Amino acid sequence: MTVVNDLVAFDRIPKVSGFPGVEQVNNALKFVSPQLPIALLGWYKELGPIFRLPFPGVQVVVLGDEALFKEMLLNTQVFVKGPLFGGLRDLLGESVLIEDGDHWMQLRRVINKAFFDFPIERLHQIVAEQTAKTTRNWRGSDPILVADQARSLALDIIWRIMFETERDQAFKEELAEAFVQCVKFLNRASTVRLPHRIVPGYSKFNSSNSFLKQVFDDLVEETVARSDISSQSLAKALVQGYGSKELAISQLKTLVLAGHETTEITLSWILHFISTDQVLQTALKEEVSAKYVEGSALNEIDFPLLTATITEALRLHPTTFIIPRQSTKEAIVGKYIIPADAMLIASTLLVQRSSAFNSAVDVDDADTFNPYRFIQNPALYQQVQSFGYGPRKCLGANFAMEELKQIVAYILKHFSLHAEPQSQAIQPYNVGGISRPSPSPVVKVNLT
Ligand code: HEM
Repeated sequence: MTVVNDLVAFDRIPKVSGFPGVEQVNNALKFVSPQLPIALLGWYKELGPIFRLPFPGVQVVVLGDEALFKEMLLNTQVFVKGPLFGGLRDLLGESVLIEDGDHWMQLRRVINKAFFDFPIERLHQIVAEQTAKTTRNWRGSDPILVADQARSLALDIIWRIMFETERDQAFKEELAEAFVQCVKFLNRASTVRLPHRIVPGYSKFNSSNSFLKQVFDDLVEETVARSDISSQSLAKALVQGYGSKELAISQLKTLVLAGHETTEITLSWILHFISTDQVLQTALKEEVSAKYVEGSALNEIDFPLLTATITEALRLHPTTFIIPRQSTKEAIVGKYIIPADAMLIASTLLVQRSSAFNSAVDVDDADTFNPYRFIQNPALYQQVQSFGYGPRKCLGANFAMEELKQIVAYILKHFSLHAEPQSQAIQPYNVGGISRPSPSPVVKVNLT
């Protein structure tokens, strides 16, 4: 590697082979394909924690090193969401997930306050009630498809917190599917950089987007009209906080989207790991039966193995496995010179597969599921970046952890889980920049 005054020129950063050239097309396809998590891990093993994918017209650099990852995400002046996320504006409007600078800060301040004011006991109560309802259907003899159950539950919870209402199964399926269709289409459209109308899937996107618009417009109208609505509804707090229906709708759509899919997928991975490791499951059940009270807080001290299990699933398979940014000018990250208009991808997946996570000096197990690594070395918790880092770290991180602990504890208290044989071949699979287990875990449940 050529080093100039200790700095490394951009074109000296290791490059994925086949760029540029015939293989470029294959690599480009991998970049938008379901296999992206696996491809990234392969490139990371081959090239190290920083590497380039020089696509025509855009330079992409992947950061899988914790220090570089943090430095880039902290520098929100230079590394912005910008046009990379702009495509999502057609779905979300002026969203906290998309905007940069002062506008982003104003949007975020109102949501932060609404979350801060939302009583945590209410969250615990809602999660316990909804988990009890969902799992009522688990008493038959058929194995359950974890993804369906997790999605339905995650949507129920976020919906009650946002709007204080419940919706039927058909509505939830239509809503989740509409979000998936929109995100997939917008992801594709921004990758191929063609006008939306000529990108395949446009009409499906258009109808899904109109459906979502109608649903959220109606909900906000209802929230405004009902003076008796509970003061604990987040929708009400946001409508009041922004003083603008449009802005409230954008943030509500964002929160439902960001708050259900990530939690749903993480829950699927956790149930998969618990159902494939009966020794771990027994230890977790002992921890839960000793201390868990339904609907009350679960802290890290009383529930060390539960906290470690959830964190380990988030470490090994972070749903938001890539966090992209665009450089607004030439800048330096670590010792690397990054040109203007480059795409930087901070990868939670790669950072969390580093040898720093090995459970012992001579053990190479960062790629395997082992929650006990956090019990042996609690300092490792600080190195898990699945919720992002810096000012734009996930605003639902605490919310998601509370939710997951409550759901998993409830399930462990009432059920025993056994993976069906097809669950052995599960892989992480990229859908629109989100990594999910595929095929969905299938689990046989018995009452305990
Ligand atoms: C396991 C669950 C979750 C994971 C792994 C996760 C992950 C992330 C990550 C990595 C980011 C940073 C993205 C970036 O910097 O570009 C993020 C941002 C965000 N998350 Fe989450 N999230 C989860 C749950 C939630 C929940 C439950 C909510 C809301 C109820 C939520 C709302 C948001 C929002 C609004 C942002 C944008 C924050 C900003 O840009 O200021 N997330 N999430």
